[in-house]
Amino acid sequence: MRVLTGIQSSGTLHIGNYFGAIKQMMELQNSSDLYIFIANYHSLSSLKDADAVRKNTIDAAITYLSLGIDPNKVTMWVQSDVKEVLELYWILSAYTPMGLLERAHSYKDKVAKGIGANHALFSYPVLMAADILLYDANIVPVGKDQIQHVEITRDIAVKFNNEHGDVLTMPEFKIDETVATVPGTDGAKMSKSYGNTIDIFCTPKQLKKQVGKIVTEAVSLEEPKEWKDCNVYNLCKLFLDEDGQKELQQRYKKGGEGHGHFKMYLADLITDEFKEASEKKEYYENHLDEVKEILAFGAEKARKNASKKMEIIREKVGIL
Ligand code: ADP
Ligand code: TRP
Repeated sequence: MRVLTGIQSSGTLHIGNYFGAIKQMMELQNSSDLYIFIANYHSLSSLKDADAVRKNTIDAAITYLSLGIDPNKVTMWVQSDVKEVLELYWILSAYTPMGLLERAHSYKDKVAKGIGANHALFSYPVLMAADILLYDANIVPVGKDQIQHVEITRDIAVKFNNEHGDVLTMPEFKIDETVATVPGTDGAKMSKSYGNTIDIFCTPKQLKKQVGKIVTEAVSLEEPKEWKDCNVYNLCKLFLDEDGQKELQQRYKKGGEGHGHFKMYLADLITDEFKEASEKKEYYENHLDEVKEILAFGAEKARKNASKKMEIIREKVGIL
């Protein structure tokens, strides 16, 4: 079973991303043939600063490796290291009806937000289809906003297969419904676009500031407190097992501690959870050659798959 996903190199990851997506990848790497690539060609559709594109690409690799992606279990590479994907992108374009792309929410949303409409932004789903179909992915774990892109991939694959036989593997998207939405500091969904995040990697000072922003009920120190709808409790909960949660509920019910204490407790939980990852991150930042070696090794393996697949596809469409 091949599971494939692309990661955007769009900067700082928050604990919503960690519990909502990254933890899932950690589990998948133990149970499947997991392929992960950094979608740097995709990033060109909205990012024009070359240094930023370069830095984001390597930062994404460092972040995922630090958080526990194991290069011995996972094939991890940079999208642009396997050029076949662009060839397939063009071929698939010829099997993509315009209407399919015109209906894409993601394109419409980005244009509505004022991101300049360019052709890459419009044809983004075709490149994503190439990413998926080039490697015969069976399962594509994505966030809800990406479901339509996987559906477009399936539509393109059907068009192609109708013409040429059973060449392209039909992928399924995978959403982890068990993951609850992680709340941000204001209680709404944590999202980098809402400015309510708590970042995975930040200095103790930044962490204190972000945790300090969490909105809480105004009650005196002595009074018992309600844990059920408390934003601090709901965030602490993510890091605690059942006993830990019960213990914390008792502290809320007992009174004598303010939300400031619970926020400090949360900051400690976050620091502990990411302590090892922070150390690894520092290590990789100082050993970039090692990171590049991991990516080169992954690219080599991905390229082998890609070139075999492209031979079949070229033959089918008549490219000599
Ligand atoms: P953001 O909303 O900060 O832009 P992304 O859309 O880049 O986050 O999300 C990347 C991944 O993290 C997706 O798989 C998404 O489902 C997951 N994710 C993002 N925010 C949350 C959250 N608050 N709770 C759970 N999962 C989240
Ligand atoms: N579009 C995806 C995102 O924004 C990233 C991506 C690119 C991707 N190619 C992919 C995800 C292929 C899954 C499969 O998150």
